[in-house]
Amino acid sequence: MEMKNFYYLNFRERLEVKFLEKFNNQTESWILNKVPIHHFTNTHLFEYFKEIQFVPFNHVNFFTGHAYESTVIHSDLSYGNKDTVYALNYIWGADETLTSMSWYKVKPDSTFKVGNTTANTPYYYYLDEDVIEIEKKQDLYHQLVLVRIDTPHRVVNNCNSNRYCLSFRGGPTLSWEGIVKYFEPYFL
Ligand SMILES: [Fe+2]
Repeated sequence: MEMKNFYYLNFRERLEVKFLEKFNNQTESWILNKVPIHHFTNTHLFEYFKEIQFVPFNHVNFFTGHAYESTVIHSDLSYGNKDTVYALNYIWGADETLTSMSWYKVKPDSTFKVGNTTANTPYYYYLDEDVIEIEKKQDLYHQLVLVRIDTPHRVVNNCNSNRYCLSFRGGPTLSWEGIVKYFEPYFL
């Protein structure tokens, strides 16, 4: 079977996200906050993680994508993430018909560029002319989705308000093919 880069899981519910106000006046684009996992331990989402045998790390990546902003095309492996090739994302906030995530193939003879994060660590990114889009996911809000993050990808917000994303990372640590098989019984 040909692998896609994302699969919707059978969890769809509005999460009460109480810590959000704290981050609301941040203006930096695509800012990443690390939210302690205990904020979620009394939610249905956490029960669901137990059911599907996903063990989240101690911190959750919380991304705010501001109005009309896109990320660079990048691979998460270049951000110091050694072995996690997937994330379980939960997205809300803007207009879901106007926000999306895309995956890319690198053109022959093209390669990544090296940038520096605000923490002065290197990350690899790709120019538009060096890649070809191979798949695009229109967002579906308040829905858990398994996404691939070790290959070049980008998130786009074409809406006039913020897009919020809780990106859960954790175990088991498997290849993309392995993790798709692992979570397959729970796909929508
Ligand atoms: Fe990413």
